Amino acid sequence: MQQNPERAYYEEDEVIRSQNGAGETFESILSQRVSRRGILKSSLLAGLVASPLGRLAQAAGEVTSPGLGFEPLKGGSPSQIEVAKGYKSQVVIRWGDPIKAAAPAFDHENLSASHQKLQFGYNNDFVGYMPLPFGSQSSRHGLLAVNHEYTNPEIMFPVKGPRDMNKSQTEVCMEAEGFAVVEVKMAEDGAWTLVKESPFNARYSATTDFLVTGPAKGNKRMRTKRDAKGETALGTFANCAAGKTPWGTVLSAEENFQDYYANGESVTSEMDQKSHKRYGIPGKESEYGWERFFPEFDLREEPNGPYRHGWVVEFDPYDPTWQPRKRTALGRFRHEAATTHVSKNKRVVMYSGDDARFEYVYKFVCEKPYVEGNRTANRDLVDSGVLYVAKFHEDGKGEWLPLVFGQGPLTQANGFYDQGDVMIDVRIAADLLGATKMDRPEDIEVNPVNQKVYVVCTNNSQRGNEGRAEPDKMNPRPQNRHGHIIEITESGDDHAAETFEWEMFMVCGDPSDPATYFAGYDKTKVSSISCPDNITFDNDGNLWIATDGQESALNQADGFYACPVEGDQRGHLQRFMSTVPDSEVCGPEFTPDGTTLFLAIQHPAEGSEFGAFSTQWPDGKGLPRPSIVAIRAEDGRVIGSAKGTQSRRSLLGLR
Ligand code: FEO
Ligand code: CA
Ligand code: CA
Repeated sequence: MQQNPERAYYEEDEVIRSQNGAGETFESILSQRVSRRGILKSSLLAGLVASPLGRLAQAAGEVTSPGLGFEPLKGGSPSQIEVAKGYKSQVVIRWGDPIKAAAPAFDHENLSASHQKLQFGYNNDFVGYMPLPFGSQSSRHGLLAVNHEYTNPEIMFPVKGPRDMNKSQTEVCMEAEGFAVVEVKMAEDGAWTLVKESPFNARYSATTDFLVTGPAKGNKRMRTKRDAKGETALGTFANCAAGKTPWGTVLSAEENFQDYYANGESVTSEMDQKSHKRYGIPGKESEYGWERFFPEFDLREEPNGPYRHGWVVEFDPYDPTWQPRKRTALGRFRHEAATTHVSKNKRVVMYSGDDARFEYVYKFVCEKPYVEGNRTANRDLVDSGVLYVAKFHEDGKGEWLPLVFGQGPLTQANGFYDQGDVMIDVRIAADLLGATKMDRPEDIEVNPVNQKVYVVCTNNSQRGNEGRAEPDKMNPRPQNRHGHIIEITESGDDHAAETFEWEMFMVCGDPSDPATYFAGYDKTKVSSISCPDNITFDNDGNLWIATDGQESALNQADGFYACPVEGDQRGHLQRFMSTVPDSEVCGPEFTPDGTTLFLAIQHPAEGSEFGAFSTQWPDGKGLPRPSIVAIRAEDGRVIGSAKGTQSRRSLLGLR
């Protein structure tokens, strides 16, 4: 989400301190990383040659990344979506589009909660493509599972801001957040269309009932006036990025939940005061003002309200009758994404960042093994396991520290009475373990080809400011306005391991800035980039990066980039797409064959006054509407690949 400068825990638009001198320090940091890289590279190549991909590459006489074959876009700020030459984009679904037979057409002058319940939500962030039928690899027919992160009342209604809304407008917003499932199909000409009356189409919102599972179920702080047992929770909101599970469900991350609660100062117990302060619950009024009409968002009425949010929630796009769950074993913080990977010993591992300044990187390892092809056996896997927080060392090594009740300082002496308490106050527990404070960790994903884990730190303008943590090798820049990406190798390529090695992959910004770094690639040949946020990988393991915040940081539209991570093209970042004014790019999701790319265009015209919109995309009239777009090559080739070539994984029949 875009950042609100009024709030201390968000990024500020501030003048960046001169970077003079930072370049030298930075080069010395990297020389150590790069020499270690030389060692890693030779062991990687040895592994690659032994693999089917490696044998194919050897037969072709080269062991390098296949690279990418499109002409990069320049920066700039286009009025329409721009994609690289030879590609085209189309809008698949927009905020307010009907997704149920009974749903009325979108009518921006008559928005209502009852209509919004049956329509696509606002501010789409995560997009997961789930093939139909279940278990297939279809790239022409599937479900889109989409998160709806927040709303922009000032451009939805003729109001000045959220606290200007009346009750019915507030109710529209409550129904416009959460997530959606929609069935989509591709026609022969490559155009994607919504299946409007599909039985899979569904909405979940701030008024949906959730079950609470895992260690915090029944914890006294989960008990509310609505549920004296603490086993259910009303509503989901602030759903940012997410992850698909191997068994075909989605783990949706509740991120900035603190913005919805008011009067945090009213609580009396020391434990609650400490917790709400650490989680940024406002002392008095909330950002969104829902408490003005719904007292459960007012801590004077419901002091335990905020404990019901900040979780990872699981829903099943293939089964709309399955009640969604708040999975408390994954911990409570401002979750950004929950991406999964199956480890060598069949444990499902989930990575998640806590997106705030000086917060932490986490992973969860399930206790029981994943059983391929058995949805029932995997159904509640994420209710038991160990949550870890990352401690990075400056020598390029790192540890995953277990957040387990009774171990180390996580005892009654520090206010923890059981594992549920540790999960509710994960931030406080991670502080006690001495985890590493990072520059706003956003997306974290595993590269399916080289098995490395990529951690995106979007920015942190307060790094090194008086009283705040100084730069370190993991977060090397003071007032880090442009963000960076770290590459982790889990020990033994085992994603359940408790140790890892790491190195800096990219330090973002204008490449002419000496403080930037693009994995050692020639900086005169890369695109400028700032504020990386969501990432994904294509079938060749190339990293694709979406941005959020470049308009203020680099005076260019946010966009979508591709970057090889192996071979002689490692670090060769190229801009593939640019978005419309005052929007960010989210999603990103390829179909299994890599020929369609879905992107979520979030908050177009954010910051405008009602009626004076900086863009009316996509309709060109009426209100700006957050939407999902599909991008394809005009000749249908794999996205990003050179003309006439195919993905090597496709050639091998691996996908
Ligand atoms: Fe919702 Fe951290 O982006
Ligand atoms: Ca964002
Ligand atoms: Ca994000």
